Amino acid sequence: MGREAPGSISPISEARARLRESLSEGTYAHSLAVSREAARWAAAFGADPDAALWAGLLHDCAKGLSDEQYLALAQTAGLEIFDAERDAPSVLHQRLGALWAAERFGVRDPAVLLAIGCHTTGAQVMDPLARCLFVVDWVSPDRTYEGVEVLRATLAKGVEEGFAAVLRAKRDVVLAKGLPDHPWARAALDRWTSD
Ligand SMILES: [Fe+2]
Ligand SMILES: [Fe+2]
Repeated sequence: MGREAPGSISPISEARARLRESLSEGTYAHSLAVSREAARWAAAFGADPDAALWAGLLHDCAKGLSDEQYLALAQTAGLEIFDAERDAPSVLHQRLGALWAAERFGVRDPAVLLAIGCHTTGAQVMDPLARCLFVVDWVSPDRTYEGVEVLRATLAKGVEEGFAAVLRAKRDVVLAKGLPDHPWARAALDRWTSD
């Protein structure tokens, strides 16, 4: 018997099997990697390892939809859609993922849902689990982009340094791609860095 979703009756093995069916092979492998890595780093961030295991596993459960699907589902769910999300609707997978984690996977732990809901942009309010997931998602072992080793080395020096470095690295990616600033990302930078 695997671990239970916080406050639910779903074992984690069942959640893995369902994700394997619904996600692409790459996203599924990434989700497993982030799940393991988040659990490994949780204590350093001051987060609960079991909650981190779940947050990592489910964080991308709404990944892989079309832009039209993201916008339609967000509208149906009554989410406020920011301009940055109209330009890049896949960002909505963080908030839809939190909804699905609750509705489809039975997660009740608000910390897990908060972490999933802001894992891409960050947010002004981020507890230890949210900070852990945000960082680990960007430096998990399956990531191979240029510069990831520098971020991993920064994280190895300390979780606060690692968190600030990932916030800045993500801002730089958005700027380089010419994407609009997401208000939550701006709020996170303002709250958690001196930038
Ligand atoms: Fe994601
Ligand atoms: Fe991810």
